[in-house]
Amino acid sequence: MFKINHAEFLAPGIKRFVIEAPRIARKQKPGQFVILRIYEEGERIPVTIENSDPVRGTINIVVQAAGKTTHLLNSLQTGDSILDVVGPLGKPSEIANYGTVVIIGGGVGTAMAYPTALALKRAGNRVLSIVGARNKELVILESEMRAVSDALMITTDDGTYADKGFVTDKLRQLIQNGTRIDLVVAVGPIVMMKAVAELTRKESIHTVVSLNPIMIDGTGMCGGCRVLIDGKSQFACVDGPEFDAHQVNFEVLVQRNAMYRDAEQQSMAEYQQHVASGDAGHACAAVEPNPGGRA
Ligand code: NAD
Ligand code: FES
Repeated sequence: MFKINHAEFLAPGIKRFVIEAPRIARKQKPGQFVILRIYEEGERIPVTIENSDPVRGTINIVVQAAGKTTHLLNSLQTGDSILDVVGPLGKPSEIANYGTVVIIGGGVGTAMAYPTALALKRAGNRVLSIVGARNKELVILESEMRAVSDALMITTDDGTYADKGFVTDKLRQLIQNGTRIDLVVAVGPIVMMKAVAELTRKESIHTVVSLNPIMIDGTGMCGGCRVLIDGKSQFACVDGPEFDAHQVNFEVLVQRNAMYRDAEQQSMAEYQQHVASGDAGHACAAVEPNPGGRA
């Protein structure tokens, strides 16, 4: 069992957990993730590691409630425990002194972008960060991102905070202003990563995205996380999750992530019925959902 030392909402539906996991905390590097399971028959879900503290032996994970399991997870509180936490998984981000790097965090993807931004800053890069959210309430990790960035630009889709627009509007401005950009790292919804890739392809700017396909075992054995990179199959859990954005087949990623949508919706509806009827004990046992993308 992995004890939750602290749990707090960063935004509506987005919760940060500080979990006792000393072995993972010692080994975790930026860009990696964990797979966890809340209860014995529960599904295994990949979750972003936002930070780790090797001295305290803790990791921070950030979870957005989307389906049944992430809702259950976000109902856990300080002092509760998680059955299994496996990791760190995936290849770490490639950290080097590239020059000027633009880090883009879309919504909850900002939690995954943060440790990479921190490491790239420590490696001597000029870090320009762009954080986007649907509205003011959903902007997360603003102070953390500001602390590791030479400049932080924020956008909200509805204009309720900072500049109205998408993260790609800011990236386009930087390109049009003639800002020298040596690397772009983008983490967020698929549609955002695809839009970033299309912008930078035209300018031949090296761009890395962190993919969030369906995952089950996280060890390269089940094939659940297969993605198409430069026309070849790769497994995001062991070959990624970061890939050259200009080689990613985003259409296949969208199709594969939608494969279990009906079952996920059914499972969520049953879970909500159990919760509404006050039968929380059986909420866990509501029809087992199929695996989903990274929380
Ligand atoms: P969201 O839908 O609120 O979008 C976040 C931001 O992305 C928007 O504010 C906007 O700036 C940008 N964006 C959205 N659509 C765009 C478009 N068409 N063109 C350009 N920019 C666009 O994000 P959310 O609800 O927080 O969801 C985050 C997603 O990130 C989830 O799907 C989650 O699975 C995924 N995620 C990915 C990783 C990863 O490693 N890739 C990690 C964590 C989460
Ligand atoms: Fe099974 Fe990647 S999650 S192969």
